[in-house]
Amino acid sequence: MYEQISHSLLNEILDELKPHIRRRDLRHFYTRLGANFYAIHSLFHLLYGNRDDFKAKMLNLVEVMANQYIQRNDELKQLDVEREKDHNWFLSQKWVGMALYTEGFTGNLVSMKSRLSYLQELGINMVHLMPILDCPQGASDGGYAVSNFRNVDGRVGSMEDLESLGASMRKRDILLALDVVVNHTSNEHEWAQKAQTGDPKYQDYYHVFDNRDIPDMFEETMPEIFPETAPGNFTWDETMEKWVMTVFNHYQWDLDYSNPTVFIEMLDIILFWANKGADIVRLDAVAFLWKKIGTTCQNEREAHLILQLMKDCCQVTAPGVLFIAEAIVAPVEITKYFGEDAVIAKECEIAYNATFMALLWDAVATRNTLLLNRGIKSLPEKLDRATWLNYVRCHDDIGLGFDDRDILLAGYDPQAHRRFLIDYFTGAYVDSIARGFPFGQNKKTGDARISGSLASLVGLEAALAQGDQEAIDRAIKLILLLHSVIFSFGGIPLLHYGDEIGTLNDYSFLQDEHKKDDNRWIHRPKIDWKKAQLRQQHGSIEQRIFDGLKRMIATRKRIPAFADFNNRELLEVTNSHLFVFQRIHPEQPTNSILVVANFDANPQYLDMHDLGGHIRPQYSQVRDLYSGESPAMFKKQLVVPPYRFYWLISQQPEAVV
Ligand code: GLC
Repeated sequence: MYEQISHSLLNEILDELKPHIRRRDLRHFYTRLGANFYAIHSLFHLLYGNRDDFKAKMLNLVEVMANQYIQRNDELKQLDVEREKDHNWFLSQKWVGMALYTEGFTGNLVSMKSRLSYLQELGINMVHLMPILDCPQGASDGGYAVSNFRNVDGRVGSMEDLESLGASMRKRDILLALDVVVNHTSNEHEWAQKAQTGDPKYQDYYHVFDNRDIPDMFEETMPEIFPETAPGNFTWDETMEKWVMTVFNHYQWDLDYSNPTVFIEMLDIILFWANKGADIVRLDAVAFLWKKIGTTCQNEREAHLILQLMKDCCQVTAPGVLFIAEAIVAPVEITKYFGEDAVIAKECEIAYNATFMALLWDAVATRNTLLLNRGIKSLPEKLDRATWLNYVRCHDDIGLGFDDRDILLAGYDPQAHRRFLIDYFTGAYVDSIARGFPFGQNKKTGDARISGSLASLVGLEAALAQGDQEAIDRAIKLILLLHSVIFSFGGIPLLHYGDEIGTLNDYSFLQDEHKKDDNRWIHRPKIDWKKAQLRQQHGSIEQRIFDGLKRMIATRKRIPAFADFNNRELLEVTNSHLFVFQRIHPEQPTNSILVVANFDANPQYLDMHDLGGHIRPQYSQVRDLYSGESPAMFKKQLVVPPYRFYWLISQQPEAVV
């Protein structure tokens, strides 16, 4: 957009740029800067326009973008241009991700390289390496307390190791996703240490207070994230003799984004990692970026403006790079992290579908899809050119983040239902063989979340201990069922490492004094490669899960209707044990897919009349693309065995997948 004020400011800035920037061939940089400058200026002005140094900071911002553009290598610049042409590339059904801790997966970045073939065997082509940057030796919140944003933690390797791994991944067409922890730093970060010595410049990077007056006002409305291990949102710093805001752990200092220097530093870091070859940057804890007294300090409008600004700036320097929003917040809030508009107010292209994840666990516990259907219906439409990260488990706890209103509409009492879910997954409920643990219990509110590995939560651990073959079979089926849904729902499925071979809870964290109080470590395992080898032994648990997922992934990649173009229709059917939706092929409706998943331990049937006249005729004769079989149909009733799923395509001659 052309607008005089921002355009003349841009001209001034260009005149003032240092000679080394002016001399370079920056054609693409300038065209992109011209295209985005109005938005960048407006957003920067909204956030920082009241400051005397506004213009100077604007110049700094452009310098950072230009310098990082100059640093960007030709291969990445070429990729940027290709992705600009094919801007929907990441919506394809071809992508399947896995998140993993390097240390737990193989030990270090060098040995990671030799395991890429394992990931490829499964069909993974996007890898999220959990935090690998410098962090404190002791507790570091799994690396989410960063001490140096530009250095790889020596325990997993070096920058060269990472670059070499990245190059190998690129050759194999595997995307690399890396974290940038934008909300806070570790107390060992240079900025925090300078703040501790009393340097006012760096104290301004954080929220620092002389006494409890303001912290107490904040505490009135701020929830606690880790109520058991890190109660309150402020920590007294002995060296500084001041209070500092620490929303997560006491050693994680929240950055103050009302300071433009913080924004510029963080943008520089994001672009630094883009230049190291990250295809995707996962922006951690984005809901918390802006703090305001009298609020929960989550999902504030300014947090969205910051993300829009980060996106606009990143598009100038490294437009091929995508952002993942890690915002585990209420369903209506999550979709806002895609931005208000796909072009003019974009934020992150990808967001964790935490609501869907939690709803799936509800269906596991209740064996029905009443709340799952309700919750999906209430999830606001997402933007075009944006996609979900769909997952069953991740490195974090499971929060029961659905709406009380939806719980009521599904026919339950919200408080009692939440209690039931916690009891169910922690094995306290009579009928449950789940082996989860309560996480982040809040005595004041009665809230709790759940830790536990996928396999242990679906009963595999208890079934093995009891030698109960039927329960083992059920657990395997559930693992496959849950994945079948995230593979077909629309979005990028993200597996959690170890789940592909049914890894059970890992209790070794209890022996580590820096981990023992954080039971999320129970589901951040060290992979046992001997166990992984069993995937080649026919009939083993590992083989049944691994091969099931492998086949599912290969099948997904062949089904164009599984690409995410907001082409899903949720179908509410009479049988409440079934989760049913259609994925519509954008160009060939006859190649649409009917997904049917039975969350019950008993066989169920789908009355095809429920599908409605516009859909039913197409599926009068069907084939399941996953198994290749034609499921049993009695008259107009489709039989769905316990914990079974179907990806059904019409058997009419035009259907060709
Ligand atoms: C994110 C991470 C979580 C971490 C928190 C604080 O939510 O996923 O593991 O504890 O941020 O950094």
